Parts: sequence; C-alpha cells; structure tokens
Amino acid sequence: MSAAAADGTGAGAANGAGRMIDLRSDTVTRPTEAMRAAMAAAPVGDDCYGDDPTVLELERRTAEILGKEAAMYVPTGTMSNQLALRAHTEPGDTVLIGPGAHIWFGEGGAPSPISGVVIRPLEGDRGMFDAATLRAALNLDMGTVRARMQSPVRLVCAENTHNGAGGAVWPLDLLREMLAAAREAGLATHLDGARLWNATAASGIPEAEFAVGFDTVNVCFSKALGAPLGSALAGPADLIERARRFKQLYGGGFRQAGIVAAGALYALEHHRERLTRDHARARRLARGLAAIRGLEVDVEGVETNIVRFRTTAVDAPEFAGRCREAGVLLNAYNRRDLRVIPHLHTTDGDVADALEVFRRAAA
Ligand SMILES: Cc1ncc(COP(=O)(O)O)c(C=O)c1O
Repeated sequence: MSAAAADGTGAGAANGAGRMIDLRSDTVTRPTEAMRAAMAAAPVGDDCYGDDPTVLELERRTAEILGKEAAMYVPTGTMSNQLALRAHTEPGDTVLIGPGAHIWFGEGGAPSPISGVVIRPLEGDRGMFDAATLRAALNLDMGTVRARMQSPVRLVCAENTHNGAGGAVWPLDLLREMLAAAREAGLATHLDGARLWNATAASGIPEAEFAVGFDTVNVCFSKALGAPLGSALAGPADLIERARRFKQLYGGGFRQAGIVAAGALYALEHHRERLTRDHARARRLARGLAAIRGLEVDVEGVETNIVRFRTTAVDAPEFAGRCREAGVLLNAYNRRDLRVIPHLHTTDGDVADALEVFRRAAA
C-alpha cells in the first residue's frame, strides 16, 4: 500500500499536481474522493438567508469544537480575522499584536482601510509576547491628559500556531497569563487560529482549551485539513451577529455555500487526527535539511508542520528555482529564507525525494 493510501487521503487520484512534489503550503491540497462525495451529496440552501443546512451544521460543530456560543462560516481566513477586528473595534482604536502576525503582515494591509484601526506591534519571541510585555505596552501615560489624546487600545490579537515563526505553538500557561493581563485591562481578545488544529495535534490539548479566554477565534478549514476553502469566526452569539452584518457588507454572503461547507465538515471529522503524520514528516524534512551543507535549520524549532530554513551559499530564489526544475516546489521569502510544508498528499517517499533534490540544489 502506498504511503498516500495508508493516510487514507486517496492522494494519488485527487492530487492533480502531476509528478511535482508541492511543499509550498498546506493550502495546496485537493479535496479527496471521499470529501468530494460528501460535497456532492450536501443539502444546500442560501447562506445569505441563513438557511443552508450544511453551513448551519458546520457552524454548530465548529462552535462546539472551540467551546464558543456561535460560529460564522466565511470564505477566507483573512475575512474571518478582519471581521473580528471590525466587530471588536471602532475606527481610531488601537490593536496590539505579536511580531510577524499574519493579520498585520499577510492580509494586504486590511486593518487600516477596513476597520480604520492602528496596529501596534509588540515585541516577543517566535511570534509570542508575554503578560509583562502587554502590561508595559498599556502603561502609556494613563491618567494624564495625554491619555485622552491617544488612540484607545481595544483589542489584543494572538496567532496559534504561528505561521511566521515556523508553526510555533504558544505554551498554554504563557497564553493564559497574557490573556489574564488583557482581561485586567478590559481588552477584547482575538485568536488567529488558522492552524489551531496543528497546535492541538502537537500538544494533545483540545482546541477549546486553547480558545478559553479569547472572545473570538478564527479557524481555517483550507489549511492542512484539506478542505477546498473556508474559515470560521467563533465567539459570543451577539458579537458573531454583529460580525454577520459586516460579512454581508464585505460581500462574504456566499449563497449555496453548503457545497464547500460539506468539505470543511468532512475535514473536521476525518483530517484532524492525521496531522501528527505531517508533523513527523516535517521533523524528518528538518533533520534532512540540517544534514545538507549550505543549509541551516532550527530542527528543535519544528513543532508542527512548517519548516523554515536558510541558505548560506546559494541565493534562496536560485535554490527554489533549481528545486522547481527538479520537480519540487517550495517558497523563498527573500535571498536567504525558505519554507517547506508537508501536507495531506505528501508521502514518506516525497520527503526522501525532496531531500535528494535539496541536496543537489544546495551544491
Ligand atoms: C496564520 C494565518 N492566518 C490567516 C491566514 C489567512 O487565510 P486565507 O488565506 O484563507 O485568507 C493565513 C493564510 O495563510 C495564515 O497563515
């Protein structure tokens, strides 16, 4: 039995990527045959009328997994995060956020035009910041006349796992301390949990535990879980209702969305547990990369499915170009930094073949 078949993904049939080994992202997956069957059979209604039964079931199940009152299905993680910012804030408010956060760096500058908020980045390590850093950031001339002249801090955002930090998992105790400081200060809190599933798979801590203390949580079904698209924003029913108004305003009502929601539901029930296999393959890739002269990788830092590494000899775009010619796709970010992510369709054979290509490309 092939490794893909052993994963139960039916990858060979569903992955139309030919012989390329695509390690650019965990978003490049194709729906499996079983997922496509679930999508084809899905009962649908109209998302804008709020009567698509498959969307409603996905929202119910997502809220249940995250331990929140309500959830709202939306087309993308960017929309989910930005709806959270809009629902929590008023124009002119400040949002505190960790270093390298996707909401800040990866969403087209949306917080400014969409919510009119000021993003204030906090310092930290591996995308995380602690309670002391948060308290220090809030202690800005409070109680003086200048406080009235400042933009009020309204919201603090965290990301778990952290994409920019190579899939790092926030330790629960640090997260809880930071959230207690946010609560003390009366701040709203949002978690970008696009890959929260990976934090759970790596730590054994249920998603709902990581979500405790956050008002809202974004999760993505299209990252690592293999659904074709879609994310959800979960939180208190009244806040999610407020966000629904903005979803419509941003053009996010997507009619017979039950077709794709069925893929997300299938992914939730069938593809979360297998994420540990991606993590094992990521560690194998990291160890293999570390053994190649001309490449550097923090093997210990690979906690989930993302492997970030550096070239020390060949320029990263040149390295990525050589790999592409040899049949392996990966992302280069600048002249030195690259990333690979094994996913639903990546087999043990792919890992071995990709490492051989990396060895030749680094020479
Ligand atoms: C951490 C994180 N949050 C949010 C998003 C945005 O998701 P989407 O691409 O569905 O808009 C991404 C996308 O990669 C991400 O990595």
